[in-house]
Amino acid sequence: MTQDELKALVGQAALQYVTPGDIVGVGTGSTVNKFIEALASLKDRIAGAVSSSEASTARLKALGIAVFEANAVGELSVYIDGADEIDGQGHMVKGGGAALTREKIVAAQSRRFVCIADESKLVTRLGAFPVPVEVIPMATARLVRQFASLGGQAVVRLKDGAPLVTDNGQHILDVTGLQIADPLAFESQVNQWPGVVTVGVFAHQKAGVCLLGTPHGVKTLSFEGS
Ligand code: 5RP
Repeated sequence: MTQDELKALVGQAALQYVTPGDIVGVGTGSTVNKFIEALASLKDRIAGAVSSSEASTARLKALGIAVFEANAVGELSVYIDGADEIDGQGHMVKGGGAALTREKIVAAQSRRFVCIADESKLVTRLGAFPVPVEVIPMATARLVRQFASLGGQAVVRLKDGAPLVTDNGQHILDVTGLQIADPLAFESQVNQWPGVVTVGVFAHQKAGVCLLGTPHGVKTLSFEGS
């Protein structure tokens, strides 16, 4: 099976976590795009979605799914999103699509985080994938030095030769070389640095369930209660 087929498999499998009548939290990325396509088959049975990016919002609307502002609704029953890495406890690295801040907001508003990913995303320790960090641009140079003090090399993500601008009008640092032995502590530490909007380690908002696409089918990993 190709990686694209594995993504479609988990995108379809995630429908089992969608409760009829509810508003669904929807993430961002190529795996979530498969979920959005699958969700269209349920569009008359759900109330709509809260989206984590302008890109997902456009896709949802194009398929006739109503999109609500996060502030206009209460707690969501489920948030479905991909990951760049997920470990054996459900901690993730996210933000490869630059949507990490809104992803963390919608995840925090949801009772359950269902991660959908192909099996290449499962790791024993986070940090091989460059950790995305959304930052206020005037803090960039100092934050590069702060990551260097942890042994990390941070570079500004570019798009068409200029710093990529997120949906929130900020920039992204991609940080390599980090040893993330304790994801909860790492997330808490970096969150406190002035100028950091969001760090792409999701340990406080970790996955409750992961649907992992494998050549043998969908494997369900449960982290709830752990
Ligand atoms: C976007 C994300 C995505 O969930 C992550 O990058 C995985 O994307 P894909 O499903 O395309 O591999 O965090 O900000």
